[in-house]
Amino acid sequence: MIVGGEPELALLLHIFPEGVEELDGAYAVYADEPPLGFDVVEIDDVSDGWEDTWRDFHHGLRVGRCWVGPPWEEPPADAVTVMIDPGRAFGTGTHATTRLCLELLQELEPTSLLDVGCGSGVLSVAAAKLGFAPVRAVDVDEVALETTRVNAEANGVTVDVGAELQPAALAVMNIALDVVERMLPELPVERAITSGYLEREEPHADGWRSVHRSVRDGWAADLLEFRP
Ligand SMILES: C[S@@+](CC[C@H](N)C(=O)[O-])C[C@H]1O[C@@H](n2cnc3c(N)ncnc32)[C@H](O)[C@@H]1O
Repeated sequence: MIVGGEPELALLLHIFPEGVEELDGAYAVYADEPPLGFDVVEIDDVSDGWEDTWRDFHHGLRVGRCWVGPPWEEPPADAVTVMIDPGRAFGTGTHATTRLCLELLQELEPTSLLDVGCGSGVLSVAAAKLGFAPVRAVDVDEVALETTRVNAEANGVTVDVGAELQPAALAVMNIALDVVERMLPELPVERAITSGYLEREEPHADGWRSVHRSVRDGWAADLLEFRP
């Protein structure tokens, strides 16, 4: 257990999707490794099963035409159901940035899609259910790739899961700002929904400009177009 550091709960949850809780006036975050910039001031034995305690707090959520929720909840009959068990990968669907991306996806005509930083696969699965095809899901984390495979199969949709980027008409990329900016020049797409950064931030990359911006709870998402 690591205590201390950045006092903003929303930001901490984004950085430590494994878990954050308020503890004696400080924030405790759960992570396998102490992250850079944080002081480890206390190390406890953590009780068995802590990875699963978040399940008690994970509930389904309506996002436009979609309902994103865990397999142990009953979805509404009129929604496009996106059943997600994130396991230990990021992406229950409830984080503001995920919701912003999913809302933007629903405003676009379905095309081929490259989901960069797929996490639990929530955006890939939702996109496939909304008619996007083919959908390619990419992540640097093996757990995320495997979780996305499992969630795609559980939802009965086809998602091509792998480590390499592949060309598509549209990308969706919900990662931190520095990663978004670093990856934009190498993305084999001409349009991208990007998020993972705060309202006061915006991604900059040569040739890319925002044609639409949405905000929620202090977070932002952009629809970017490449116009060299
Ligand atoms: C904030 S989560 C987003 C998960 C999901 N797409 C969502 O919107 O809820 C970011 C994901 O990006 C992945 N990631 C981080 N850096 C990456 C990189 N350079 N290339 C691909 N994936 C990356 C992380 O492993 C993590 O699964």
